[in-house]
Amino acid sequence: MIKDQLNISGEKIEELQNIASQNLFMHAQHINDWAGNLKIFVKGEGVWVTDVNGHRYLDSMGGLWFKSAGYGREEIAKAIYDQACAIETPPANGACIPQIELAGKIAKLYPDKNARSFFTSGGSESVETAVKMAKKYQMNQGKSGAYKVISRRYSYHGATAMAVSLGKPLTSDTMGPEMPGTIHVENWDSYRIPNNIDSVEYAIYCANQFEEAIKHTGPDSVAAMIAEPISAAYGIHIPPAEYWQRLREIADNYDVVLIADEVITGFGRTGKYFATEHWNVIPDITTVAKALTSGYSPLGAAIASKKISDSFLGSEKEMFRHLITFGGHPVSSAAALKNLEIFEKEDLVQASKNMGEYLLEQLEPLRNSKIVGDIRGLGLLVAIELVLDKSTKTKIPASYELQKKISNYLLERDVISFRASDVISLCPPLSINKDEIDFLVDALKNSISKIEQEI
Ligand SMILES: Cc1ncc(COP(=O)(O)O)c(C=O)c1O
Repeated sequence: MIKDQLNISGEKIEELQNIASQNLFMHAQHINDWAGNLKIFVKGEGVWVTDVNGHRYLDSMGGLWFKSAGYGREEIAKAIYDQACAIETPPANGACIPQIELAGKIAKLYPDKNARSFFTSGGSESVETAVKMAKKYQMNQGKSGAYKVISRRYSYHGATAMAVSLGKPLTSDTMGPEMPGTIHVENWDSYRIPNNIDSVEYAIYCANQFEEAIKHTGPDSVAAMIAEPISAAYGIHIPPAEYWQRLREIADNYDVVLIADEVITGFGRTGKYFATEHWNVIPDITTVAKALTSGYSPLGAAIASKKISDSFLGSEKEMFRHLITFGGHPVSSAAALKNLEIFEKEDLVQASKNMGEYLLEQLEPLRNSKIVGDIRGLGLLVAIELVLDKSTKTKIPASYELQKKISNYLLERDVISFRASDVISLCPPLSINKDEIDFLVDALKNSISKIEQEI
């Protein structure tokens, strides 16, 4: 363990690079892209991170969509330490104080004040839990043949076998048969609306695809429908209110459980605690993770509305039989409580709305660029979409290696991005200030103008 991470010798850095190249898997990154040249970070503060060579960068992605309170919050580190010193985990038949307090806190923030949280260790487990809950709920209602789940093409719901088959993002491998009963319908795309029909009309058409699938496959066999309020994997398209309102109606009409996957959007990212609040929709189950602790410690939850959780209160046969050893780890729960305290103290949810609007305003001149097809966002979840031809919205071919180029140009301007390609996603900490947004926008303008000249 290195005590002073800011003052590491060149020799030590080389040793770390060698170990990483030989012994480490990097998540979803090809080894050729990092072996011998891995970015190793040793410090974080606000929106800034410092690498092992002492170079400071602005993290435009907030880690992987989660660093909402920003880096370097000592209060959260202290809460983690205090809980670990008191009692780090309870015996199997009990709970620790932060787990209970956190369940209460989430219910207070959530639109259904009687909501009950099943804690997990992350987003994929939250999705697995929500789907299992939906199936058990249906069994308890007497709809025991309901096992199918309808989701949207190119979404992302996690890496575990069931979650990955629900999502089918463009970047995942096909691994043979999906979970039986998985049905995919059209996703919502605000930029490429066919035949220029009205966006609300198109949104209702897209939502109705769930209904078509339910009718086609048989309502008695469908347990749940799942969607992200705004799919980051599919390019951050914000739907009109009618989309989620129609999903709610369809779920009610056919007794199908509506799951909102808010692993990215939950806890303030879009300017409300939960994105479905923008449209006055209360899902039956909401999945969360990432910003719940701002990534200070792994944690997720499936938040069940009273309707769902009450269905497990009857006989032993009806209980929700589900266990994840480290789900709701007390140390992570303590981190989450402190994180949410900071959210309230600094009004980070309102800041997300305000700073998101400022960011979109500053990006607006980029629309004059020949390759900027669209700029869209809600709160501090923002996308810039680059195209080859704005009139036809033609995508930039993969052969152009946009992902590598954009990331490198941004890095030269001290900005970290992740998989920025034809859609540049922005998800900075909610604590970002105007000067930092100006810095980010300058880097984006500079990088996009280089790409424009090359194309
Ligand atoms: C919408 C959504 N759901 C689920 C997941 C899976 O979360 P995790 O990587 O914590 O398992 C992600 C991860 O990015 C996500 O974006």
